[in-house]
Amino acid sequence: MKRILLTFLLLATLLPAAADEGMWLPSLIASRIDDMRAKGFRLTAEDIYSVNRASMKDAVVLFNGGCTGEIVSDEGLLLTNHHCGYGAIQAHSSVEHDYLTDGFWARSRAEELPNEKLWVRFLVRMEEVTERIAAGETAQEIIRKAEAEGESYKAAVEQMYYGNQQFLFLYEQFDDVRLVAAPPSSIGKFGGDTDNWIWPRHTGDFSVFRVYASKENRPAAYSPENVPYRPKKSFSISTRGVAEGDFTMIYGFPGNTQEYILSDAVRYIAERSDPAKIAIRDGRLDIIRAAQESDPALRIHYAAKHASIANAWKKWQGEVLGLERRGICAAKADYEKRFDAWAVDKPAYRDVVAQLRDEYARIADPYFAREITFETIAALPARYSAEARAEEVFARREATERALFRYLAGEYARRCPVQYQVPEFLDGVAACGSAEAYGEKLFEGVWNDTDTLAIDALRKGARRMLDHVGWLLGTGSLRNLNSGRLNDLYTVYIRGLREWDTRRAFYPDANLTLRVAYGRVGGYEYADGEYHKPRTTVDGIIAKDNPEIYDYDIPQALRDRYAAKDYGRWATTVEGRRTVPVCFLATNHTTGGNSGSPILNADGELVGINFDRTWRSTMSDIAFDPEICRNIAVDIRYVLFVIDRIGGADYLLREMKLR
Ligand code: ARG
Ligand code: ASP
Repeated sequence: MKRILLTFLLLATLLPAAADEGMWLPSLIASRIDDMRAKGFRLTAEDIYSVNRASMKDAVVLFNGGCTGEIVSDEGLLLTNHHCGYGAIQAHSSVEHDYLTDGFWARSRAEELPNEKLWVRFLVRMEEVTERIAAGETAQEIIRKAEAEGESYKAAVEQMYYGNQQFLFLYEQFDDVRLVAAPPSSIGKFGGDTDNWIWPRHTGDFSVFRVYASKENRPAAYSPENVPYRPKKSFSISTRGVAEGDFTMIYGFPGNTQEYILSDAVRYIAERSDPAKIAIRDGRLDIIRAAQESDPALRIHYAAKHASIANAWKKWQGEVLGLERRGICAAKADYEKRFDAWAVDKPAYRDVVAQLRDEYARIADPYFAREITFETIAALPARYSAEARAEEVFARREATERALFRYLAGEYARRCPVQYQVPEFLDGVAACGSAEAYGEKLFEGVWNDTDTLAIDALRKGARRMLDHVGWLLGTGSLRNLNSGRLNDLYTVYIRGLREWDTRRAFYPDANLTLRVAYGRVGGYEYADGEYHKPRTTVDGIIAKDNPEIYDYDIPQALRDRYAAKDYGRWATTVEGRRTVPVCFLATNHTTGGNSGSPILNADGELVGINFDRTWRSTMSDIAFDPEICRNIAVDIRYVLFVIDRIGGADYLLREMKLR
């Protein structure tokens, strides 16, 4: 009886890990490996991360500071997302060579295009330095020592669990990264902003680069003498595909999550911050969309701007929906109550929740003012450059730009708590009679280049106000609603949580350091009675294809391949149809920065490239709900199909290790 009870208790302690929540530190992955193997993984912790021999971490890179990439050949070939390579592809594009529209396929190494200011970083190693710091060494000293170990080494000391632990991350940076291939945007960005954050999805969101090194295989600035980098490790590619339920693992650089914040902070996000930012962007997007619909030249001109405003705008809406529908505020408040009940006789933790709450009340207004300032005043152009003025489209932008100035000034006046509105703004409004009229006056000065003093004064005022808010908040991270004091309190709170909630599997918040997430290929119940299957195929692309709608107008070559069923070796049978798989859903916990991450099968082979999440699952930045949180990957077989049958670049396939 006792034995049975014990087994039951042991099983129960494994339960919280049954959900696929978590972004784990690779050097500590041994603590998860039993769970991973129980879920189907067939490799070892050493295969994932090792400092003594080549391991998967040697094939994963931080791509230009905001995305992830993976090495897929012994000659430095790299895969990431189309939206991650977008800047590089755009920089090489001109009217004669429009690689964004038409795609780009280097026909030989000589045609691979160098990129200024494009770099990748490999992790050399990570190690905990909490004790060194406790013993008096500063982070700066630790960084300096580590960087002295190698010529192109970059080091950082990052906090985990709000400073309960510190880790050194040592990277080797390569600065010669060349563009090898990109599909046309009608494949790489298929579905555009309409399908962004949405499932079912049919985007071929990939691009191909190559890392170059010196003849000695060392990092080197661009030189025609450089040669393809010979990596310690590259991923093999599985062409066998994935099925619902299969184990998956994502290895990459998630940017920013806040899983341990109080219900007060969640309420601030869901009820105050997100709705205000969404509403401000609603109006901006309306103005820009109207311009785009009225004039094809303006449609192109504002395309990138529209996409970047719309991406976060749409994400915040999904986040609010997810948080509300899943009752996260109430669940968190209940969790805090139970923690407080436990802490009542523990002086170290007794008051921490109440103190956090007080601090939130103190900083909410100034932090909100800061957010509103970024969404409004900071979004106003201070100048129109000579380059912009020389563009043919410039004169046609006038009405749109004027409307944006009027609108954003009005939004700032209405939404920024008045005690944080800058004096220059209040004076301007008083002089002009309304915020809109003041916005218009600013516009006249900037547009005609006759008076830039007013906007400069306003921006200076805004800077001063932001400095003041920074001072009020203290030295904590200003990325999220945070303050120096909150950070200190969270250090204590997290320590308390870990003592109290021994059944919870804790992992540090994402902070753009290398992490492992694992789960399985899986659909989800989208709505009552409506199950979303985890995979899409080219048949779905053809169903969406519409030459009249920009986002759904596919290249003729794709229509032709489909008509001829010319799928090459990438064809597979799905529900009795011969087709090519395009995207799939999985339960991995990911966030911004995970774009371009390799998604690997139980044997560590590449089966896809991560690029997005479903709409409501963006709540996973705050709370991961296993019922609905899904990441979206492009199936590697679609990537290979496009490289082979659309790009005709089968020579690239020859250097990959296809299994
Ligand atoms: N939503 C994805 C991410 O956050 C992809 C964004 C790029 N695609 C787009 N249509 N804007 O970055
Ligand atoms: N699309 C995001 C990225 O670019 C990934 C995500 O937020 O799921 O990193």
